[in-house]
Amino acid sequence: MSLKDQIEARRTFAIISHPDAGKTTLTEKLLLFGGAIRTAGAVKAKKATRHATSDFMEIEKQRGISVATSVMGFLYEDKQINILDTPGHADFCEDTFRTLTAVDSAIMVLDSTKGVEKQTYKLFEVCRLRNMPVLTFINKLDREGKSPFELLDEIEEKLQLELCPLTWPIGMGKAFKGVYNLMTNELILFKPHAKQDHFESVAISDLSDPRLDAQLGHLAATLREEVEIVRELYPPLSKEAYLSGHLSPVCFGSALTNFGVKELLDIFVDVAPAPRSRETDLGEQKPEGSEFSGFIFKIHANMDPKHRNRMAFLRVCSGIFDRTKRYYHVRQQKNLRFSNPTAFMAQEKTIIDEAFPGDIVGLYDTGNLQIGDALTEGSKFMFKGIPSFSPEIFKLMVNLAPMKSKQLNKGIQQLCEEGVSQVFKKVSDHQMIVGTVGALQFEVIAYRLTNEYGAECRFESLPYMKACWISSEDPDLLKSFVSRRMSQVAKDSSGHYVYLSETQWSLDRERKENPGITFSFTSEG
Ligand code: G4P
Repeated sequence: MSLKDQIEARRTFAIISHPDAGKTTLTEKLLLFGGAIRTAGAVKAKKATRHATSDFMEIEKQRGISVATSVMGFLYEDKQINILDTPGHADFCEDTFRTLTAVDSAIMVLDSTKGVEKQTYKLFEVCRLRNMPVLTFINKLDREGKSPFELLDEIEEKLQLELCPLTWPIGMGKAFKGVYNLMTNELILFKPHAKQDHFESVAISDLSDPRLDAQLGHLAATLREEVEIVRELYPPLSKEAYLSGHLSPVCFGSALTNFGVKELLDIFVDVAPAPRSRETDLGEQKPEGSEFSGFIFKIHANMDPKHRNRMAFLRVCSGIFDRTKRYYHVRQQKNLRFSNPTAFMAQEKTIIDEAFPGDIVGLYDTGNLQIGDALTEGSKFMFKGIPSFSPEIFKLMVNLAPMKSKQLNKGIQQLCEEGVSQVFKKVSDHQMIVGTVGALQFEVIAYRLTNEYGAECRFESLPYMKACWISSEDPDLLKSFVSRRMSQVAKDSSGHYVYLSETQWSLDRERKENPGITFSFTSEG
């Protein structure tokens, strides 16, 4: 197969949802349809550990399992489907944001009884920032939920997104009868408790077809009415609008009972984009480019405490990754060879010889790689848009075992490279400040520093609420700001200046009083 055909055959995506909307269930059902797993339960195992995040043994277990399930690949028809898992816990959203940099599209799952929830909104905003195509799946139709029109209005309003229903539900809850496929005019009939793979579908010529009445009884009239309204209110599917992230096709179903999942997968394979071009600081990198390139978007360290091994997750962006070649590590300006690069097919990790754009490759690493790093065949460019997010919780790190300073520094640096936290060094007294997006990370950090690095530390609360990266076109202006605000300025691990603000008010004031300084809430390394 040519490189172009390989690219065309790939679909790399993530499922985004508020916790409990049905992401795990849907992932599992997609894997079942793709023949990647035979029985349900494999992905759920991970979910079970998630409930016990305060139990550190469970954190360990979860890290182990999540390596296996963080990328799940399978073949469906002639397409290589790569699902990238996004952690469900709200505290780990930074990891989720980064994972979204490695996909080409997303499926957004909503619970029909809840509509658009907080995390749905947050994650969708990240997709919007990247103009990412999003397909919507409205789940749990087997339960009494909001009316489909109400749900669509809510999505349109809260997410400011144009919608295009591709299937339409008939009844809901106990009266749920199935969906009508607006593209193929098929009626797909739901059988409660069936949990089957394929549901009966009836092809009907048009909505006046008497088979509709025979199948649906009094709900046939409602369906006719609703479909007429839908066709008047919503635009036909514009692939262009979907691909530019302005319109989301909508499907309805019930992941738990498998209903609507095959239709979703068929529609997804048909409309979702193949791997797309990526922005770099030297312009656009096209997937069909002959030179291999890719970037690291996730790192899992110390999976086996006996060996300091880590796995870096590489998204192939262009060309062909070849196991036998050495690749150029742009940040470190050196060539590296990776033994045993791994592909993720369902639950299995297999060593691969080559990989194509859209593929995720696991690279065993001894500490060379960091999130955001680019690998090329020699070109010196970095990929854009893999940001570090501004942390919101800050604590002073106090070393409790001065003899183990080296271990502490090494440990915290590695946890930063993994993206668990960010570390800042205060300009005034060089004290170390650890910043995270969620509170849970501090427990994880302390536990891992002790268990993996033999270091001991304590965290003391600090009054800061936001870190902003500061820069200026005028170096003197920046220097003068830093010396005036010495006690509130720190450096991040790349040596960039960060302003630590205690209140929104003081941040607003600084921005107003210092128009020559740019305050930014994300840093692109
Ligand atoms: P998440 O990954 O988005 O957090 O959600 P997950 O799939 O774990 O689903 C959350 C709960 O919703 C689960 O129930 C799951 O069984 C249920 N669920 C998912 N899809 C559907 C659906 O289509 N219909 C109905 N009625 N329920 C659905 P749970 O009781 O929390 O877990 P479990 O005991 O079933 O595993």
